[in-house]
Amino acid sequence: MLLTLRVPRSRLCLGRQQHRRLLASTAPEEAKRQTTQHPLQLEINGNTYPTDSWTNVTPKILSHLGLNKHLQRDHPLSIIRQRIVNYFYGAYRNQRGNPLFSVYDQLSPLVTVQQNFDNLLIPIDHVSRQKSDCYYVNREHLLRAHTTAHQVELISGGLDNFLVVGEVYRRDEIDSTHYPVFHQADAVRLVTKDKLFERNPGLELFEETWSGSLADPKRILPSSKCMDQTKQPCHTLEAVKLMEHEMKHVLVGLTKDLFGPRIKYRWVDTYFPFTQPSWELEIYFKDNWLEVLGCGIMRHEILQKAGVHQSIGYAFGVGLERLAMILFDIPDIRLFWSNDSGFLSQFSEEDLQNLPKYKPISHYPQCSNDLSFWLPANVEIDAGFSANDFYDLARTIAGDVVEQISLVDKFKHPKTGKTSLCFRIVYRHMERTLTQAEVNEIHKHIADASVEAFNVQIR
Ligand code: PHE
Repeated sequence: MLLTLRVPRSRLCLGRQQHRRLLASTAPEEAKRQTTQHPLQLEINGNTYPTDSWTNVTPKILSHLGLNKHLQRDHPLSIIRQRIVNYFYGAYRNQRGNPLFSVYDQLSPLVTVQQNFDNLLIPIDHVSRQKSDCYYVNREHLLRAHTTAHQVELISGGLDNFLVVGEVYRRDEIDSTHYPVFHQADAVRLVTKDKLFERNPGLELFEETWSGSLADPKRILPSSKCMDQTKQPCHTLEAVKLMEHEMKHVLVGLTKDLFGPRIKYRWVDTYFPFTQPSWELEIYFKDNWLEVLGCGIMRHEILQKAGVHQSIGYAFGVGLERLAMILFDIPDIRLFWSNDSGFLSQFSEEDLQNLPKYKPISHYPQCSNDLSFWLPANVEIDAGFSANDFYDLARTIAGDVVEQISLVDKFKHPKTGKTSLCFRIVYRHMERTLTQAEVNEIHKHIADASVEAFNVQIR
């Protein structure tokens, strides 16, 4: 699927203070109100947004706004941000020796559907737009699902070399490697014909036969996956190849800067609605090929929409948690939200080149409980009930003591036609062993809240 810069699976560990707060579980009625009912309007960053049938942000998710872990001094995500930014500063300089790229790392994550999807030509029926995948404030506004959402506004503002860094929000399964909020860095570089063909004057960016007009960029089409890896019809092959060469050279340079000169990597063809051709860069790490970034030649419609007609561009996006987990050997994604000094004090931006390996603070056993229920008559999974709604409800109630939730069984009763689901919830505390009695109590809260929120019948 597109928009996939996620993090690898691993284990959890979390900080003391945060944990105390998380263990104070929310009462079922309150959790239900938080996940299924919304006030008539939401106030976010001083602005008021009317809610509607698309609203699905929860107070818990909104509490991440403004935490800016990528800007927090000595935080591992901030260290990774600086490594990427410094690499780009060094890789591209103007004649005076100043960095060519500018950095935007404090843009508001609250964006419009137009910014997150339409501007990027993401098909109107694309899965990534679904309510079950994003955090919508209302039908027009959402918490950005990728930092690519800012491309068009920045290009329209006249920028041609820039990086965007910030947190992104995606609804997802809960487990120790997936957190609904994580961080990305995106970059755009635009070049004109003169710059690209400095050493080959006479070559062109655009095909002579191309009329200059593309499909109306305002019309967002339904999915018609165009997997032509060669090039967009408007571009010349020379322009695309040179741009591809430059982009891959720079991104391999970044990868080697981060992982060392001997890192094994490979390019994999892929599809993004906003780039063509598109690639993913994978690195070989601990016996596995791991995707680290997505990139490609920007769709020319996007540049046109932003008022740029005489340039070709490349863009890429990379997930910061994944890089940080590998580079610092951080075993669990929830640690990035920890305020525990035992965690934070292990990292320092004094020496950005020397990245220490994380030393686990503690390790406590897991505790797993199943929850089975009947869905109401005529309701099925993804037709009246979404597993992500259940994951959010469980997280709202239990917080981060929930390490993983998975759907382990599903069946339809032959006579009643009702659907039964069984979720396995794995609990783990960061600093101590949870007692079965404690877990049972939290588990019961989740069961009660599910009955309230989804009208299910516990089995
Ligand atoms: N936005 C893409 C993602 O989140 C990454 C990407 C950015 C790919 C820019 C190509 C160009 O997965």
